[in-house]
Amino acid sequence: MEYVTLGRTGLKVSVAGLGCGGFSRLGLGAGKSTAEAVALVRRALDMGVNLLDTAAVYGTEEVVGEAVKHVPREDVVIATKAWIPRSAGRNAAERAVAGLDASLRRLGTDYVDIFQLHGVMPAAYQQAREVIAPALLKEQAKGKFRHLGITEAASEDPEHGMLQRAVEDEVWDVVMVAFHMMHQNARAKLFPRTIAKHVGTLLMFAVRNIFSRPERLATVLRELTARRELPRWLADAPNPLGFLIHEAGARTITEAAYRFARHEPGVDVVLFGTGEPEHLRANIAALLAPPLPLADRLTLTKLFGRLSGVGLDPPYSMPGMGSP
Ligand SMILES: NC(=O)c1ccc[n+]([C@@H]2O[C@H](COP(=O)([O-])OP(=O)(O)OC[C@H]3O[C@@H](n4cnc5c(N)ncnc54)[C@H](OP(=O)(O)O)[C@@H]3O)[C@@H](O)[C@H]2O)c1
Repeated sequence: MEYVTLGRTGLKVSVAGLGCGGFSRLGLGAGKSTAEAVALVRRALDMGVNLLDTAAVYGTEEVVGEAVKHVPREDVVIATKAWIPRSAGRNAAERAVAGLDASLRRLGTDYVDIFQLHGVMPAAYQQAREVIAPALLKEQAKGKFRHLGITEAASEDPEHGMLQRAVEDEVWDVVMVAFHMMHQNARAKLFPRTIAKHVGTLLMFAVRNIFSRPERLATVLRELTARRELPRWLADAPNPLGFLIHEAGARTITEAAYRFARHEPGVDVVLFGTGEPEHLRANIAALLAPPLPLADRLTLTKLFGRLSGVGLDPPYSMPGMGSP
């Protein structure tokens, strides 16, 4: 495993972070058992992954708590999240603090390393900054969490409007941002500022459905070529991203996707979500592999660099919630 410093948190974290939500939810989303999910987390830890990202809405905090029970607490970096609906109004701060306490109970720990506000829409940012963050900082002073973070609602906010504001404020030490081969706009819109401000970055959506399900990619390409946002050959080709697969390049599209994300300047940790032990192994190997060949990266940027908001489908949603 390789480790990096997560921005100004100073935390030493594995470049591969286990995402405990997304479509897989550690396999629970595909009908696997809690015991299998716990085993998957333990296997990840054995392979050197030390950052686990969960959330109240994923229903995987207990799994994470069980998996890390016998690990020295300081050896693992636990990140979790609370989603606060805008309609919470004046109760928003109270809800966030109650959410933090409930997460600590489910995780069976007395602190988390990173506590994040989950899927914050641009219109909810002011409330997050002015009402919720001050209340949470009082809980931080009591030792309930070490660093405050915030995650974007990717499908509703593909231009990163909320995070563009958040990185300029000093309270959020960590941000979670969507970035992948066909949604590259964080390169210009966000990473220069996270780098300048030493804000830690957790990257989500490297693969999602678009690069794990060929039929989903084909549908998206048909839509984009119909709108003339991409050249026609991409919709007609039997294997449109086949140019990435060659001797000196990647072996699979998912490998290419994780390698593309990992080596983007400004990216600290790439989260990957899976319930499959074989995918766990392959994804860690991909994240530790060198950058894609320059020619392939240039092709990806030339073809897809102007796209925004592609392939960000949420697995499930709550009213008013972004992509969890
Ligand atoms: N707003 C937010 O705060 C927010 C939103 C989204 C995500 N997140 C975080 O980011 C994490 C990562 O997102 P994600 O779960 O969508 O992860 P992802 O890595 O972008 O995509 C995971 C999907 O790809 C499949 N997959 C993974 N490895 C594969 C492989 N080697 N070959 C084929 N298919 C593969 C998984 O299914 P299998 O189970 O079959 O492997 C799963 O359906 C989440 O778990 C969560 O922690 C946060």
